Amino acid sequence: MSQRLQGKVAAITGAASGFGCAAAKRFVAEGAKVVLGDIQEDAGQALAAELGSDAVFVSCNVTVEEDIINLVDTAVSHFGQLDIMYNNAGIVGSAGPIATTPADEWKFTIDVLINGVFYGCKHAARVMSANGTGSIINMASTAGLMGGLGPHAYAASKHAVIGLTKNTAAELCKVGIRVNAIAPAGMATAMVAGLSGDPAAIEATKERLAKTSPLKDRAGVQKMSLMRPCGWPAMNLAIRPGIHSLQMQG
Ligand SMILES: NC(=O)c1ccc[n+]([C@@H]2O[C@H](COP(=O)([O-])OP(=O)(O)OC[C@H]3O[C@@H](n4cnc5c(N)ncnc54)[C@H](O)[C@@H]3O)[C@@H](O)[C@H]2O)c1
Repeated sequence: MSQRLQGKVAAITGAASGFGCAAAKRFVAEGAKVVLGDIQEDAGQALAAELGSDAVFVSCNVTVEEDIINLVDTAVSHFGQLDIMYNNAGIVGSAGPIATTPADEWKFTIDVLINGVFYGCKHAARVMSANGTGSIINMASTAGLMGGLGPHAYAASKHAVIGLTKNTAAELCKVGIRVNAIAPAGMATAMVAGLSGDPAAIEATKERLAKTSPLKDRAGVQKMSLMRPCGWPAMNLAIRPGIHSLQMQG
């Protein structure tokens, strides 16, 4: 591995599974130290143990601002700095017709998918501004780029994530911080497998997604969904200037 993140420290929300887990592994393989945040404590602790002294897990619910403060501050107290903030945690959330969408489910989805990213941007900016450098990566979705690709609250949230990314990028570029969004299409993670009733059915989900992909043997397969898309764009957004929002077609 190229060690392109040697000396960098990253904080990742939703790090116990899917994109966040794959990014954590790739970041460490590339030389970074990582602070893993998630509400899944057992899986998060197990990942930290697997990654060794380059990783530490903190319990972090992205809807709780104090938890994000703790995540960011742990990067500084444990590893000395924060260079990369990956606001990745997410859920499908409220689903179904707009006319019957329960308001409390709508608000909960917004809380995870938008407010969680806001807290992450806010507190990463606090730490990174003092250093005059840093990269904030927000997890959007193709559902945030056009209509009809996800449930209403999910799609609205991902559109908002892209808007927040553009606006914070416009502000924080002045102090040396890059802010970018990633917009993947459907990938075989627990979140998507769970839509069919079993979050552990990753293999069946890969096969289902691959059938709908114009890229033969690409969509939803391990190398596409859990290694390359996660590691590749996050890696490039972590180290390269000039990309504002990256779409990933499955
Ligand atoms: N899988 C896809 O097809 C796809 C496509 C586009 C965007 N995304 C986005 O990728 C991100 C990661 O999802 P994934 O597909 O890897 O799913 P996943 O279910 O494998 O991982 C999501 C992680 O987020 C964590 N999480 C959920 N709510 C949380 C909270 N309140 N606080 C902290 N952590 C929380 C979960 O515990 C889990 O570890 C999400 O933002 C999702 O919207 C996924």
